[in-house]
Amino acid sequence: MMKRFLLAAVTAGLVATNPAALAADPAKAKTIATTVCAACHNVDGNSSMSVNPKLAGQNADYIYKQLKNFKGADGKPPERANPIMNGMAAGLSDDDMKNLGAYFDAQKRKPEVAKNRDTVEYAQKLYRAGDASKGLPACAACHGPTGAGMPAQFPLISGQFAEYTEAQLKSFRIGERSNDPNGMMRLVAIKMTDAEIKAVSDYIAGLR
Ligand code: HEC
Ligand code: HEC
Repeated sequence: MMKRFLLAAVTAGLVATNPAALAADPAKAKTIATTVCAACHNVDGNSSMSVNPKLAGQNADYIYKQLKNFKGADGKPPERANPIMNGMAAGLSDDDMKNLGAYFDAQKRKPEVAKNRDTVEYAQKLYRAGDASKGLPACAACHGPTGAGMPAQFPLISGQFAEYTEAQLKSFRIGERSNDPNGMMRLVAIKMTDAEIKAVSDYIAGLR
């Protein structure tokens, strides 16, 4: 039964005979990246406007997951709602999403800078140690001391536009963004004040 299925699948081209063909191929994503995504994220994933997050250097697996979350499946609403990206992801195949992840992962991130000197020290403390008095965990525990993240689950957050980071934290806080596994980010953001979110987002922009 299994053998017959495999044979049929191979002849139908469903099973790649060369294992390497299953791996993500950044070169294949280049056309989509340069003709479609570049309009907002730039060719190298270093977007110029803060509403469009930087993708350069982001973990391939995280990008792949976000694109799947933006696309949605089985007629269910997408797990991550954004009118622009829901439209962008709708036409991408699973392979496209994997290849695009590998493509942007391979680009070098051009980091932003922290702008508020008055809050940098306090933000660094929150980032590295959290605030035990209210059960706020350290960002570094999951995103690493330099914000580089940890494949596959934890995204790179350093060097990102402060405005984008702030918007995402607020979105997690009210549960509008709820595609985080086990509510990990919602449990963090719900413990943060506006001032903490602002300070940490500014700090992360200059973190490297
Ligand atoms: C018209 C502008 C536009 C285009 C074109 C566009 N994006 Fe986006 N993208 C956005 C915006 C805006 C967001 C932020 C969504 C949010 O706030 O949740 C985003 C978010 C993302 C994210 C999530 C990043 C993160 O850090 O979580 C990924 C991944 C992404 N885009 C990939 C792509 C890819 C791949 C393409 C090309 C197929 C593309 N985008 C095309 C505007 C665009
Ligand atoms: C328990 C682990 C954990 C902790 C602690 C944590 N994060 Fe996260 N964070 C995650 C995970 C997992 C995701 C990815 C969610 C997804 O898959 O969409 C994430 C996503 C994010 C994003 C969205 C990135 C993007 O590109 O859209 C931001 C911003 C972020 N975290 C900031 C922070 C900050 C700031 C702190 C500290 C105050 C923090 N995180 C603490 C696990 C954690």
